[in-house]
Amino acid sequence: MKVFIGADHAGFEMKEYIENHLNGKGYEVDDLGANSTDSVDYPVFAKKVGKAVVAEKGSLGILVCGTGLGMCMASNKVDGVRAATCRTVEGAKLTREHNNANVLCLGARLQKEEDVILIVDAFLGTPFSSDERHQRRVDGISDLEE
Ligand code: RB5
Repeated sequence: MKVFIGADHAGFEMKEYIENHLNGKGYEVDDLGANSTDSVDYPVFAKKVGKAVVAEKGSLGILVCGTGLGMCMASNKVDGVRAATCRTVEGAKLTREHNNANVLCLGARLQKEEDVILIVDAFLGTPFSSDERHQRRVDGISDLEE
């Protein structure tokens, strides 16, 4: 599976940590920056990862900022993105199963590396439930796009 990953300055170090973990597990990881802890604006990277995920069918995205909130707000503005900020493994599984989330957002200032790795693994390892009710609701999200 292809995974696009991005971060701002606040999420840079956690992004690197996640990327190393995913490379070790055999995922094809495409790092879209940022490339240092120099101050940058998170919407730039939310857009890059969001557009890449939508363009490549079957791929998923991971975005890290200080809270995981700005990245989520920004990436959800890209048509086709269903981003979710996840603080728990259960949330990560459910947003894949029920919402077919395609971008995971994480907060480097609020979450521990050891917890985040479990959340990442749960997100990437859980398929969408194709139950009709979930598909209908996900289609309802798409209908909100202008
Ligand atoms: C950067 O200071 C911080 O605002 C950003 O990383 C993120 O937490 C925004 O939601």
